[in-house]
Amino acid sequence: MWPDLSISGPISPSTAKDSHHHYFHAAGSTSDRRSTHPAPESSVFRSARYLEGKEEVIQAWYMDDIEGDQRLPHHREPKQFVSIDRLSELGVLSWRLNADDYENDEALKKIREARGYSYLDICEVCQEKLPNYETKIKNFFEEHLHIDEEIRYCVEGSGRFFLFEGYFDVRDENDQWIRVAVNKGGMIVLPAGIYHRFTLDTNNYIKTLRLFVGEPVWTPHNRPVDHLPARKEYLDALQKKTAGGQAVEAH
Ligand SMILES: [Fe+2]
Repeated sequence: MWPDLSISGPISPSTAKDSHHHYFHAAGSTSDRRSTHPAPESSVFRSARYLEGKEEVIQAWYMDDIEGDQRLPHHREPKQFVSIDRLSELGVLSWRLNADDYENDEALKKIREARGYSYLDICEVCQEKLPNYETKIKNFFEEHLHIDEEIRYCVEGSGRFFLFEGYFDVRDENDQWIRVAVNKGGMIVLPAGIYHRFTLDTNNYIKTLRLFVGEPVWTPHNRPVDHLPARKEYLDALQKKTAGGQAVEAH
């Protein structure tokens, strides 16, 4: 049975639509709170209580291009980490939440309200519980995009060795792979139109909440699908974001 995580009160269509198109606003991040041009929904996030130490549950780094087990970290030599702020520049949003109390968590509730995430279910990825496990694992790791956000909140891992539980690999603007490692308590949003893939790490287990705006559509569009409007919109938003950042630095 799913936990009751329903939002009190309806989500207006305009809220859902707005939030869908505001995926580049890193609401809840420190950089967003410092911004002189806050996202419209940022006041909602100021009042929410988020856990510190996001970097302990979400870490990112540039990947090497060495063939081999996809479940290994694949760090470059030397290691080249990527900051949370840099991820938000690419449209990848993240939070650290209290995964031990996700059924009553006010912070999660506020994120869902502000971004219109009306749908929620639980997805366990492991050999025993996921039907067609081998096929799905293979498909998850095919480079693809979605025409909607991909929202995942890791609420449980194997707990062994304090390793990460899952890797969401995303392409940066130069088509390099960034590996985004997520552990229990980490929630991330991949924007519509970003090329990405997913793999478990060597623990071979993750339990996530999957969220969505409205009725969920999980369809992956395998690369190349550059003609899709969602891809074009993503690249436009990315370019504006990058150009905006450079203009600020130039002053
Ligand atoms: Fe995906």
